[in-house]
Amino acid sequence: MRILVVHGPNLNILGTREPEVYGSTTLEQIDAMLAEEGKGLGAEVRAVQSNSEGELVTALQEASGWADVVIINPAGYTHTSVALRDAVAALGKPVIEVHLSNVHAREEFRRYSYISPVAKGVITGFGADSYRLALHAAVRLVK
Ligand code: DQA
Repeated sequence: MRILVVHGPNLNILGTREPEVYGSTTLEQIDAMLAEEGKGLGAEVRAVQSNSEGELVTALQEASGWADVVIINPAGYTHTSVALRDAVAALGKPVIEVHLSNVHAREEFRRYSYISPVAKGVITGFGADSYRLALHAAVRLVK
């Protein structure tokens, strides 16, 4: 079972980025946790991060040949990117959208996601645990 985790812009600075909103766990720690927990669940977990919309689109296109499920935190592009939505829709594999913060409890502009209508499901508001919950959901989807 192969799971690709895609992290969008500004998630490379987790740990120091608005810790009151996003927590103090770094992206490296999240990726290590997912790889370790994935191993225990029989899944190979790979993670990529980019601040660039085009690179995220390319990562999704390349995932079609490798991943069974994709977990994506599109970060700021959640609320703006038709290109990312199109890439998710074209993938032909289940995609789980995750957010560390509860996007519905924040500014109005964060309430709309271009990704959610083409995602299998959405997990939002559990901090780093959002990714852990998504990993378990991904494994259950494949099994
Ligand atoms: C985020 C929420 C987005 O609104 C924001 O732009 C992010 C992170 C989250 O994980 O809570 O960069 O996706």
